[in-house]
Order: sequence, then structure tokens, then C-alpha cells
Amino acid sequence: MKEKWWKDAVIYQIYPRSFMDGNNDGMGDLKGIISKLDYLQFLGIDAIWLSPIYESPMEDNGYDISDYHKIAPEFGTMEEMDTLIAEAKKRHIRIIMDLVANHTSKEHKWFKEALKGKDNPYHDFYYWSDTKDNKEASFGGSSWEYVKNLDEYYYHYFAKGQVDLNWTNPKVRKEVANIVNWWLDKGVAGFRMDAIELIGKDLKNGIFANGPKIHEYLKELNQNSFGLKEDSITVGEGWPTPQIALDYTMPENKELDMMFQFESACSIYLPDNGLGKFDPLPIDLVKLKAIFAKWQQSLHNKSWNALFWENHDLPRSVTRFGDDRFYRVESAKALAIMLFLQQGTPFIYQGEEIGMTNAYLKKLSDYQDIDALGNYQALAIDKKLTTPEKFLEGLQKGSRDNARTPMQWDDSINAGFNKGAKPWLKVTPNYKEINVKQCINDKDSILYTYKHLIELRKSKEYRNVIHYGDFKLELADDPYLFVYERSYQQQKLLIVINYDNDVHEINLNQKPKKILISNYKTSSLNLKKQTLQPYEAIVYEL
Ligand code: GLC
Ligand code: CA
Repeated sequence: MKEKWWKDAVIYQIYPRSFMDGNNDGMGDLKGIISKLDYLQFLGIDAIWLSPIYESPMEDNGYDISDYHKIAPEFGTMEEMDTLIAEAKKRHIRIIMDLVANHTSKEHKWFKEALKGKDNPYHDFYYWSDTKDNKEASFGGSSWEYVKNLDEYYYHYFAKGQVDLNWTNPKVRKEVANIVNWWLDKGVAGFRMDAIELIGKDLKNGIFANGPKIHEYLKELNQNSFGLKEDSITVGEGWPTPQIALDYTMPENKELDMMFQFESACSIYLPDNGLGKFDPLPIDLVKLKAIFAKWQQSLHNKSWNALFWENHDLPRSVTRFGDDRFYRVESAKALAIMLFLQQGTPFIYQGEEIGMTNAYLKKLSDYQDIDALGNYQALAIDKKLTTPEKFLEGLQKGSRDNARTPMQWDDSINAGFNKGAKPWLKVTPNYKEINVKQCINDKDSILYTYKHLIELRKSKEYRNVIHYGDFKLELADDPYLFVYERSYQQQKLLIVINYDNDVHEINLNQKPKKILISNYKTSSLNLKKQTLQPYEAIVYEL
């Protein structure tokens, strides 16, 4: 069987409103993305996952779609979308769309119809109830919203304006398959599937994720849409365990190709005090290593991992997992090396490749995200789980706006994001030092580490061991060192990382042949009683 292209791919996520503002109105757009395709080709990526660009009232920045067949005017036109697909193709870059089908915007015509009456054919496209229970929406407040003229409540897992679609209705499932096919016919490569684990919910029994019928729905969608295109890609968003991910992604199940998992990039720092990501715990390396090992080993030879540190919902990895004050460059490179030598398809989130940091916004009014503002009200004001001052500090650590500040292209006005119009979200002041232009001019920059890692994954000599090799964790209990081995046939790679801002000694009997990549010029071939520098990360061939 032909190997799937996406197993050899590196995918780059673009958050359109923050990537590049091509018409200088403060909002990133398609024209801006097109103008940066050469840069992405230079980096060496194979596909772009585009966060939603469809028509939307933008209550949740496009994750609330009002028309799946139109482009939001702030992002451009359908003609520009076609140009983007064609121009990307010329550079061997595929476009992956974001399919948000757990819910529509309340402005979608289906919901407007549904509001007209209980006997309207679209009423059953959504979930309704005469009473409401205590379920809280994920951006704060109740999950049930009252509609006066119908005298009933509709259900929303996320914001009020994001109304959950009723997938038990076969007409809904048919509409979603139509949308998928319409975009595939346009030439997109596939879909990242938003909140997909929620579509099988069973509200009466309080089941939200991974509901009883979800596999039936996904198999049906696969059969009626992307499964018909051998070359397509689907990546589901959810919070699965390895076993759940396998159920969704084993090829013989004919559902999805990959699942994102949030254990390594997120759950690892969530406390139990109700404040979640706004009061993160320090990273426990021993736990983190065990999580990676579990995923690598559980999916090996059965399915395929989606590897990532960042996306538009998470803080910047160099801030959360590295050290953005004293070892920004070293730790960002270490994180890249840690991830890219694992088995799976790596995802880079815009700006990660240059080590962009959290935004450190100071005032509540600087925040734009419905999740930040909604949870400020719910957690700090209504429930008083913490003080407003403390919550502001929490936002600096956990808010989604941290990853959404304008991309830092150069040291000119607004970081080169545009020509000077006020951006929709503040530019991070460190853009004078941290920007793409600086990275391109410095062969030792984080950007080149990413570029070299991409080349390494694709190289004839090392592709197979990275692609197929077994994963073995060494020194599992060491609190500072992350060491793992990948082996395939006669070939062995050893990945050694000092995950700390202090020096630590490593003492192994291995005698490496050579160093394939490292983040210190002084990295040594000797592993016997060897001192590793802060965040030193080395890939050896044994
Ligand atoms: C996903 C998206 C997030 C969005 C939510 C609702 O988690 O990644 O940005 O707010 O779904 O669509
Ligand atoms: Ca614009």
C-alpha cells in the first residue's frame, strides 16, 4: 500500500487574523497569507492548517460559522481563497481547512430557521429542552439559553452564539458531508476537525465527549466524503486517551487519520482548583516523559501521532515549557528537538518557529478572547475562586490571546504585520528582537533548527528511523534529563535533552558515532560523565 503523504509531512498552523495583514486594516487576511507562502516554502512545510476563514460574526474568532460556503469579508474573497490554494500548490503546500461542525453560529441560516417554530424543519438541527440543568458552558455561564417565542432552551457547549448541532438528525450529518465534499472539490487536502469528540453527545445522560454513536457518525461521514479521496487528511481535536485515539484513528476503522491529544501539551499543568490553565502547575518532567512514552508506544504500528506543543488555544511553548527569560533560544530549540524526533506528524504553530513568547498583556481591556473575558467574569467575579488581580496574572500564563498576537515579521512598525493600522490585538513589544527577519539572518536561530529538523525527518538516511523506529525512554525517573532512543533495523538514534535551566551531568555507556543536530556548538560526542548545559539538546546517531 502506498504510504500516506501526511506521515512524511510537517504541518504549519495559520491563525489568519494574526498572520499577515495584506490590506493594512488591522486584521490578518488571505492576501497576507499568500504574500508569505515563499517564507513557508523556505521553512520546508508540506501543508497549512488554516484556522476558520468562513463567514462568521466572530464571537469566537471564526469558530462560530454562519456560512460554510463564504469567506468572511475581513479575510478576503472566495477568489482569494482559490488563489491561495493554487499558489500554495505551486509550492507543494496543501491547504487543510478547519471544519467546525459541532456547532454553528446562531447567525447561521439553519438556526434562524430553527427559531421560527418548533415545526420548522431546521428546528431539529439543534438541541432543545423545556428545562435547563446546571451544565456550564466552557466560556462561562449556563449551557442553556432561553428563547422566548419558543418557550424553550437551546444547548451550547461553548459560547451562546455557538449552538450545538444535533448529529442524531441524519439531515445534519448529510449537510456536513456536503460541506466537506464542496471544499474537497475545491482542492483542499482535508480537515482539522474542531471539537470532534463532542458530536456524539447524549445530553439526557450527561455524556459529552466520545458519546455512544460517535463512531457510527464518523464512519458514515468518512464513507460519504473524505474517505472517497484517498489522499485526504483528517485530524480530530479532542482529549483522548491512547485507546480512545486508536478507536478513532486505526486505519481499519475508517474514521479519522489522526487525533490531537492534550495530555502532553496541556493536561500536564492543569490544577484541580477550578482555575485550570489560569493557574498552571510547574511542569513535572518525569510525568511529561511518561506521557510521551505512553503515546509513542501505544500508537506504534497501529496508528499515528499528531505531535504539537502549540496551537491558537494554548500559551506559547517557550513560555510554558521552556524559559523565555534566560534561555529562550536554547529552550525553544530543545522543545523542537524533543518533539520532532518522535514518531508522528509534527505541527508548528505560527511564530513557534521563531520562539515567540506569551503576550504578557497588562490590562483586562487588552484581552480580546471570549474565553478570557467570560472566565474572568465566571471564575474571578461570580464564583470568586480567586481575586481579579490574581486572575489577571493567570491570564498572562493561560489566556488564548497569548498565542494570538500578530506574527512578528521584522522590527518595523507593528512587527511588519501591516503598515501601521492598529492591529486587532496588541503586538508583543519584544518584536524588535524576536522576529522572522532576524531569524533568517542568523544561521544559529531557532528558525534554522526547525528548518534542519524538517530536513532531517525527510532525509534518505534518517527518514525511516524517525518514521518507523521503536521508541524507548531512558532514565525515566531522572527529573532533569529527557533521553530517548529510536531504533529501526540496524539504525539507532539517541536524543538527549537537559530540560532545566541549570547544568546537569549525564553518564551513559553509549559511544555515539556522530551528532546530527544540537543547540550548542560545544555539544560533545562523549556521554560518560558529561556536563550538559542548560537546555542542551542533542540528537546522536549511535
Ligand atoms: C476548539 C477551537 C477553539 C474554539 C472551540 C469552539 O477547541 O480550537 O478555538 O474556541 O473549539 O469552536
Ligand atoms: Ca486585513
